[in-house]
Amino acid sequence: MQIGPHLLPNRLFVAPMAGVTDRPFRQLCRQLGAGYAVSEMVTSRKDLWHSLKTSRRADHTGEPGPIAVQIAGTDAAMMAEAAAYNIDRGAQIIDINMGCPAKKVCNKWAGSALMRDEALALAIVQAVVAVAAPRGVPVTLKMRTGWCQAERNAVALARAAESAGVAMLTVHGRTREQGYTGAAEYDTVAAVKAAVRVPVVANGDIDCPAKAREVLAITGADALMIGRAAMGRPWIFREIAHFLATGNTLPPPATRDVRQWLLAHLHDHYALYGEHTGVRSARKHIGWAVRGLPGGEAFRCTMNAIDEVGRQVAAVGDYFEALAQAHGLLPQPAANDELIALEA
Ligand SMILES: Cc1cc2nc3c(=O)[nH]c(=O)nc-3n(C[C@H](O)[C@H](O)[C@H](O)COP(=O)(O)O)c2cc1C
Repeated sequence: MQIGPHLLPNRLFVAPMAGVTDRPFRQLCRQLGAGYAVSEMVTSRKDLWHSLKTSRRADHTGEPGPIAVQIAGTDAAMMAEAAAYNIDRGAQIIDINMGCPAKKVCNKWAGSALMRDEALALAIVQAVVAVAAPRGVPVTLKMRTGWCQAERNAVALARAAESAGVAMLTVHGRTREQGYTGAAEYDTVAAVKAAVRVPVVANGDIDCPAKAREVLAITGADALMIGRAAMGRPWIFREIAHFLATGNTLPPPATRDVRQWLLAHLHDHYALYGEHTGVRSARKHIGWAVRGLPGGEAFRCTMNAIDEVGRQVAAVGDYFEALAQAHGLLPQPAANDELIALEA
C-alpha cells in the first residue's frame, strides 16, 4: 500500500477523529498495528492557527512518518494556504476533509457539505494540489457517499478528484444527511473503487476482524479505515491484521498489557496537554478503555471526580491490576455497545 512516494507497512488506517486521534493516540494505534494515521482536522481559518488547539494539532514531534494532516474549509485559496502552512510544519501528506457532517468553517458548512457543490469541491482539490504537488506532497480526499440518499455523487466526485491529481480516496459509506445513524453501505465504496485507479480506502462501521474481511470483499478496497472501534481498543488493528493474514482470531490481549499501554498513553497525553488539561481530557480515553468491563462503569464515575494526575494514574493502575488478578486476558466487554457516535 502506497500513498504517492510513501510506502505503508499495512493497509489498516486510523480514521481522523477530532478530539480523539491526537498524536499520543495515533502513536498508540501505530504501535498496536495500524499502518497509517491521519491527524485531527486543522481549520483553514488563519486566525485560529496560533490557538493552543490548532498548534497542538500541528505539532508532530517524534511522530513516525508519513505525517498526514487533514485540513477543512470552504474556500479554495484558504485551503491552499492551510496546506502550505502545514507542509512547512512537517506534513508529508495533505488530506482534504469532505467527510465531516457537522463542521462549520467561516459560517459555511465545510466537510461533507462540500459534496453538494461539486464545482467548489473540485476547485478546492485543484488549489490544494497546486501548492502540494510542486513540494512532492501527495493530496488525499476523505468523503462520504454523497449529500443524501438521492444525491450520492461519490463516484463523480472521485473521478474528478483523481483527474485533479488526488493520490488516494477514502469513502465513509454514509451520506452527509445520515450523520452517524443507520448502517454504512459499501456498494458505493465498491463503485468508487471500480471507477478510479488511485487507491481507495473503505470506512464506516468496521468493528471486528470478520467485518474487516467482509468490507474488503464487498468493496475490493485497497485499505480499511477504522475510527470509533479503536477508541479504548487500539489493539483492534493487530487483531484485524492477524485475521486477514492467517484467518485465525487472536486471543484477547493480556490485561496487564492493556494496563501498560493505557498508562504509557496517559503519560504521553499529559506531556502534550499539560497536567491541568490532560487529567480532564484523558477521562474520555479511560472511559472508553473500561467500557463494558467488570466494574468499569463504577470505576469511570469515581475516576471522573479525580483531578490530579498522580491519583488518576494510580486509580487506572489499580483498576487494571485488580482486573488482571481475576482475568489474565482482558474479558470481553459485556454489552456490545453501539459504536460511539459523537462528532467534535
Ligand atoms: C468523535 C469523532 C470525530 C471525528 N472527526 C473527524 C475529522 O476530524 N475528520 C474527518 O474526516 N472525519 C471525522 N470523523 C469521522 C471518522 O473519521 C469516520 O469517518 C467515521 O467515524 C466512520 O468510521 P467508523 O465507523 O470506523 O467510526 C469523526 C468521527 C468521530 C466519531
